[in-house]
Amino acid sequence: MSYEEVILDHWRHPRNKGRLPSPDASAVEANPLCGDVVRLELALRDGRVEDVRFDGEGCAISQAAASLLTEMIKGKTVEEARGLKDEDMLGALGNVVKTRLSCALLPLRALRKALGLGS
Ligand code: FES
Repeated sequence: MSYEEVILDHWRHPRNKGRLPSPDASAVEANPLCGDVVRLELALRDGRVEDVRFDGEGCAISQAAASLLTEMIKGKTVEEARGLKDEDMLGALGNVVKTRLSCALLPLRALRKALGLGS
């Protein structure tokens, strides 16, 4: 799928959207450039991301990237989730245009914050 198709698919059909009843880790991250927000909530078990939800208000790219990120980390170990790099997110999205990098990476910054890493 092209970048546009990935974004549209996740924007129209968001995966893992909503809230968890009692998350083990969570974070809200805002893009200072526009004020858009992504919230990530994680259920952790035996060192793995057992479940995940996202929520937020923002542009299609940030919300679609959050949806995609939930699919990328569900079932992964916490260490694998911690090790995700900007390039991994951008690669999964396709060729993000440079002016929208802060949108595409907002959910990953929320993930790092939830896992106790600096964004
Ligand atoms: Fe705000 Fe994309 S325009 S995160």
